[in-house]
Amino acid sequence: MITFDFSNIMADSIGKNGLTEKDFFSVDTKKIIEEIKSRRFKELEFLDLPEMDISDIKKAGKYACNFDNFLLLGIGGSALGPRSIIEALSPFHNYKKKPKVFIYDNIDPLTIESILEIIDLEKSIINVITKSGSTAETIASFMILWKKLEEKSLNPKKHFIITTDPQKGNLRRIVDEYGLMSLSIPEGVVGRYSVLSSVGLLLAEAIGLSSEDMLLGAKDMYAKCIITDLFKNPALIFSAALFLMQQLKGKNITVIMPYADRLKPFSDWFCQLLAESLGKEGKGLTPYPSLGTTDQHSQLQLWMEGPEDKVVIFISTDDYGSPIEIPHVFQEIEGLSYLSGHSLSELIKIEQEASEIALAKNNRPSITIRIPKIDAYHLGQLFYFFEITTVMTGFLYGINPFDQPGVEEGKNLTYGMMGKKGYKEKKEEFENYRKRRRFEI
Ligand code: PA5
Repeated sequence: MITFDFSNIMADSIGKNGLTEKDFFSVDTKKIIEEIKSRRFKELEFLDLPEMDISDIKKAGKYACNFDNFLLLGIGGSALGPRSIIEALSPFHNYKKKPKVFIYDNIDPLTIESILEIIDLEKSIINVITKSGSTAETIASFMILWKKLEEKSLNPKKHFIITTDPQKGNLRRIVDEYGLMSLSIPEGVVGRYSVLSSVGLLLAEAIGLSSEDMLLGAKDMYAKCIITDLFKNPALIFSAALFLMQQLKGKNITVIMPYADRLKPFSDWFCQLLAESLGKEGKGLTPYPSLGTTDQHSQLQLWMEGPEDKVVIFISTDDYGSPIEIPHVFQEIEGLSYLSGHSLSELIKIEQEASEIALAKNNRPSITIRIPKIDAYHLGQLFYFFEITTVMTGFLYGINPFDQPGVEEGKNLTYGMMGKKGYKEKKEEFENYRKRRRFEI
């Protein structure tokens, strides 16, 4: 199982910046567990994902794995989870295996041009993921790909798998009208909590990963996260710690720092989860993605001696899956020879602990999450742990961790300018704003 080390958020380790047991007892964690269990929000349906029937996903995965390329169109929660899965569990995938995977989320025009230059559409399966069925970026790229298939006289029924709401939205309508292959995202499951649904699992199946292991990891993690006893429940301590660190100690920034290249996209996934879930009503925590050891040579100086506004979350792993050793060369040079005979995994683990100790010595808080190895089971555990703990933190703030009202205005202004029916006023607003730009040099 994953272990969680909370030593370096406690006052006996980091002095005045740390928390005491009494601080923790000021938080009504029992109520949080009750809220989780009572399913007060329908969006808590993501908690049922480990028990869901995945036979449709497996069937679609079996179909998709016969193609040379798997092109995923989606953004936000519809892309960050799948990208975390492939990078964590099949590193350097496209150099080694098929189907090669391309995730087109940002709508940078040159990116899709470049992907289309590389892949042969006849040998490609296109997975369009959008829960709402109306996200402009995803719909725009879907329309482009639809046309490209048409131009090549390729049958959309063979080349598209649409992952969307079971009933609602434009994409469900198109699925029904054109008889396209499709998978459902359960109604209550929203984007950033959807990685363990058809959103992440179809890609996993298509590239030969075990969905079952990921779901089992999540299920086992859930059992740990609903224990009522605060000091036995890692998700409760974690969420209470982030909440109290901000409320009592002014730590507004949550740095996530995995010590593994394979978990870099996982940091981005975590950042969306934390930012969109908690950032509302003037509350929230600012997530900050990072990577060890790389950022020791880039950011650590700031965390050590800059503003005292951060909690660093380290993720380390016991097993990197490689025994590679530093060889006995240049033995005559002391500045090099001390490294000989040590493994690289020893070096990276020591560096992680050294950063933790250095921060603690400077009274800077951190939490360390240690995973035995980066495999499907433990990735499932990590996803679930952070999803549950984010919800709990949201409940501690008294906000709804599932909506994102703040992103609507930008979308509406875009609709206005792109000519969507019903958004004429937004177009006028947009144009007036443009005219008011006065400080361009
Ligand atoms: O977490 C969320 O709900 C959002 O970030 C969505 O994932 C993102 O906006 C994409 O939405 P959709 O899947 O509806 O295209």
